[in-house]
Amino acid sequence: MITNCDYLPSNLTELPASGVTMQIISWPCAFFLLLGCVAAFILNDGPTSSSSHLSEHSESPLRIGSMNVQVFGRTKIHLPVVRHWLPKILARYDVVLIQEIRDITGTAFDDLWHLVNEELRTQHVNDIYDKVVSGRLGRTTSKEQYGFLFRKSKLQVSDTYQYPDPGDIFEREPFTVRFRAPHAAVGDFAISAIHTSPNHAKDEIGNLTKVYDAIRQHWHIEVRVTAVSKFN
Ligand SMILES: *[C@@H]1O[C@H](CO)[C@@H](O)[C@H](O)[C@H]1NC(C)=O
Repeated sequence: MITNCDYLPSNLTELPASGVTMQIISWPCAFFLLLGCVAAFILNDGPTSSSSHLSEHSESPLRIGSMNVQVFGRTKIHLPVVRHWLPKILARYDVVLIQEIRDITGTAFDDLWHLVNEELRTQHVNDIYDKVVSGRLGRTTSKEQYGFLFRKSKLQVSDTYQYPDPGDIFEREPFTVRFRAPHAAVGDFAISAIHTSPNHAKDEIGNLTKVYDAIRQHWHIEVRVTAVSKFN
């Protein structure tokens, strides 16, 4: 299932309620000024493919989101509005991808991770988020990272895979995380993150089949694209 939310609601109750299985959300928020392109896709090797089927059999649905936080670094993490709202939004998801981490100090994403965990404590939620982050990617000195936050009670990272990009097709090579979700119907699945280059989005998206094939070979699994987010 794909859901796009083209605005940041002033009232968080406007955000989708719980109970949606395998939901992909992308927010090209006016608030954060959308410049780039956002995409995440999910691959899973489970026997099922449709959301409705999963929700029937899933004891514990997973809420999955993707957010481009637009030049996310020290400056942005210090903005009061970001510190106030971002953790509240992210804490609604079991796994959420943060795109466009541009932070030479490598500390802004850690700060965000701490803020989301503080948010859980504020809400008296007895859980904690873990994180996994890619290397710094990009052809120019302006490097970006992909970062995932995920609920420890529901998910574990079993492996990561950085696409080597032999033909140098991708400005920021897709980063794939393989998750285990022991209590969810989807079980073993992977999420690939890509922040496409606005000028070459068409070629990059067209070449995602190469990434897909590489993932299959790398992990020796049959995978199926279950959901695709907004690619611009
Ligand atoms: C893959 O990218 C190259 C440019 O790097 C482009 O010429 C080609 O058309 C792309 N392939 C697809 C299927 O989009």
